[in-house]
Amino acid sequence: MTHPLWWQTGVIYQIYPRSFQDSNGDGVGDLPGILARLDYMVSLGVDAVWLSPIFPSPMADFGYDIADYTGIHPLFGTMADFDRLLAEAHARGLKVILDLVPNHTSDQHPWFQESRASRDNPKRDWYFWRDPAPDGGPPNNWLSFFGGPAWTYDEATGQYYLHQFVKEQPELNYRNPAVLQAMLDAMRFWLDRGVDGFRVDVIWLMAKDPLFRDEPPNPDYQPGEPGINSLIHLYTQDLPEVHDLIRAMRGVLNEYDERMMVGEIYLPYDRLVGYYGTNMDECHLPFNFQLILSQWNATAIRTLINSYEAALPATGWPNWVLGNHDQSRIATRVGRDQARVATMMLLTLRGTPTCYYGDELGMLDVDIPYEKMQDPSGLNQPGVVGASRDPERTPMQWDASPNAGFCPPAVEPWLPLADDYPTVNVAAQAQDVRSMLSLFRQLTALRRAMPAFSVGGYASVDAGNPQVVAYERQAGAERYLVALNFSAEAQAVVLDTEAAQAEVVLSTHLDRLGVEPLTNLQLRANEGVILRL
Ligand code: NOJ
Repeated sequence: MTHPLWWQTGVIYQIYPRSFQDSNGDGVGDLPGILARLDYMVSLGVDAVWLSPIFPSPMADFGYDIADYTGIHPLFGTMADFDRLLAEAHARGLKVILDLVPNHTSDQHPWFQESRASRDNPKRDWYFWRDPAPDGGPPNNWLSFFGGPAWTYDEATGQYYLHQFVKEQPELNYRNPAVLQAMLDAMRFWLDRGVDGFRVDVIWLMAKDPLFRDEPPNPDYQPGEPGINSLIHLYTQDLPEVHDLIRAMRGVLNEYDERMMVGEIYLPYDRLVGYYGTNMDECHLPFNFQLILSQWNATAIRTLINSYEAALPATGWPNWVLGNHDQSRIATRVGRDQARVATMMLLTLRGTPTCYYGDELGMLDVDIPYEKMQDPSGLNQPGVVGASRDPERTPMQWDASPNAGFCPPAVEPWLPLADDYPTVNVAAQAQDVRSMLSLFRQLTALRRAMPAFSVGGYASVDAGNPQVVAYERQAGAERYLVALNFSAEAQAVVLDTEAAQAEVVLSTHLDRLGVEPLTNLQLRANEGVILRL
């Protein structure tokens, strides 16, 4: 293996396939559409593409309910389309990461069909079946992330089955070793085809309390929050046994060269870092979602970066994420101007960045009225703010033509487009040397050219101003300072360094270069700068 590895130096770009590019005029994105846009990804300067699920699925949770782990949903294309996409991506030096969803299947998966057929079916134990409570209700108080109980009663066999998402997503029982073997085989199927890695869905939920104990109430729960927050998840999340499962998955990846897995894990740093494994034998990257969850101000972000750096094991490789298909977009959360600062930070911190499609344009969440809502999480929890994830899943904005070049003009896209697509789109921003897209491309180019950013060290720097986050990145003789103004007012940065001045190599405003004094560096509102020291 050559060090550093691609998943350490590279930038990951997440595509939500339904929303990227429609090639056959059905209003839903597909694999030939993604293939047609590979050169765009190359032009972005990203290194790997993660595709949200593309497998056969009844789409109860838009592909996160898988009915066949080793096929391609006809909506997205064929296996030949996938093989072509993989080959063409590789030919361009792009890696391809698939979504692996091991925690649950679709209720239409043959495994569950067998399991629910009778109490003595050999696959009964592949899922969690429990008798009703004495009052006939669910066996315990566990809840679904998408509202209501985590148990659904099956009339035919008189028992409840477990699902922490929609009832069409029954959970697999990894205490049965055959289940793990089946999932490892599914991994091998794709690795043998040449896939470079997996993003593993809800990996920290894969083990459950064998005693099925009730979870205690959360004393901090506020009415109006999603119901799932009303309990403390002692018995459904982050159980010690989950690490054995992840080690087994890592073992499969280790049978191949330079493959990787990035685990979806929403946990605070002290728990998250355990997912590298005691012997670095679990996730290559446990997703670091704290930039999504944190308050957005310089003090909070500075503390967060430094506590992550401090919590990481010596050989644990860091990673950073600003958005994904489950979270409000960064430009909506912090505003478009500040999103440029956030992007400069994402692409200059130490560790692997993951960028959600469209964030490179500053795409915003789109308000979707209830009648047009598609997401089961929103439909099942009317009135709960942020429950629907449709707003961050709208079609990619390619150009100013009707339907933004996502699908033909006469076709209705599966989700409405943002109203601003005539001006906020790839074609327009590619022409504008100061656009968000131009900023993104310059940042990835700098990252690629300068080992200080891709593999260098990180040191926090006191900017002498509480509104500014500053840090140094360094490799060999190369040293760069990044100073980020988190406020909407101009701020002065006073740096205590040996050098009196340094050269600006990039500003988020893309309008200044030149030498600046380090003892009095003026940052404009929402401006970030990179200086060569
Ligand atoms: C996490 C995924 O990111 C989300 O989109 C999905 O609904 C749940 N897991 C269930 O698979």
